[in-house]
Amino acid sequence: MSQERESASVPHMTRRKGVPTAPRSWKQRLFQLSVFGFRAVAGLFFDRQRLVGIYFDDSTTGWKWVLRGLLFQKLLGFNRNIPWPVSPLNTISVPYNIEFDPDDINMFNEMSGKYFQNFAAPIRIGKGTWIASNVGIITANHDPDDLKRHLPGREVVIGEGCWIGMNAVILPGVHLGPRTIVGAGAIVTRSFPEGHCVIVGNPARVVRYLPRAQADGGVAPK
Ligand SMILES: CC(C)(COP(=O)(O)OP(=O)(O)OC[C@H]1O[C@@H](n2cnc3c(N)ncnc32)[C@H](O)[C@@H]1OP(=O)(O)O)[C@@H](O)C(=O)NCCC(=O)NCCS
Repeated sequence: MSQERESASVPHMTRRKGVPTAPRSWKQRLFQLSVFGFRAVAGLFFDRQRLVGIYFDDSTTGWKWVLRGLLFQKLLGFNRNIPWPVSPLNTISVPYNIEFDPDDINMFNEMSGKYFQNFAAPIRIGKGTWIASNVGIITANHDPDDLKRHLPGREVVIGEGCWIGMNAVILPGVHLGPRTIVGAGAIVTRSFPEGHCVIVGNPARVVRYLPRAQADGGVAPK
């Protein structure tokens, strides 16, 4: 998988629920102190509440995205309206109309085009979901009788722990349950609310069901 989470440098303990925290060295303490400073300065340009999670609290990766964002978003104006770091090649129509977990902010920071078309309805993305390059998530179609207009939007909901493969397109009103895997190039025209399945093709169809984990509906920890 090419997403940047894999290459994220995590010099200190990653935060995981239920995992005891190791005693911190002076280097780790210094890093934590620096994070306060980074957040204070970066908070002048971005929403401070978005600068949290594994890429910011325990890693330098998020702060590199901040630096890139200062150049491309704030200085050059690509995605200037988005109050968190986003690669200049990704598009989010309306930043307040998308829900995601802070630990998944990497999905916006690959240098590859993704299109989150959400001006007509929200896009809700569950925790731990991976979205590959060139994926399109669409909430409203053009009106076939007047292409300058759009039909009413329908929200798209993607459950926790899903993986959307490269070049997949998810169409208005689709709800995917937890642990849905969408194959590369799939066109998802209808919902698969039960989740725990692999769907491929155009229109997407189930090729395989996935075993459910015992307690939590199958969501793998980060
Ligand atoms: C969806 C995917 C995970 C399926 O893997 P899998 O469960 O091992 O499935 P298989 O390879 O056993 O294929 C099962 C069937 O689905 C078909 N199939 C698999 N992926 C497909 C795809 N993306 N589109 C269309 N058909 C596909 C296979 O041809 C096979 O069909 P058959 O039974 O008629 O021979 C994988 O094929 C895929 O698309 N991965 C996405 C990779 C990607 O986008 N990575 C981006 C970097 S994060």
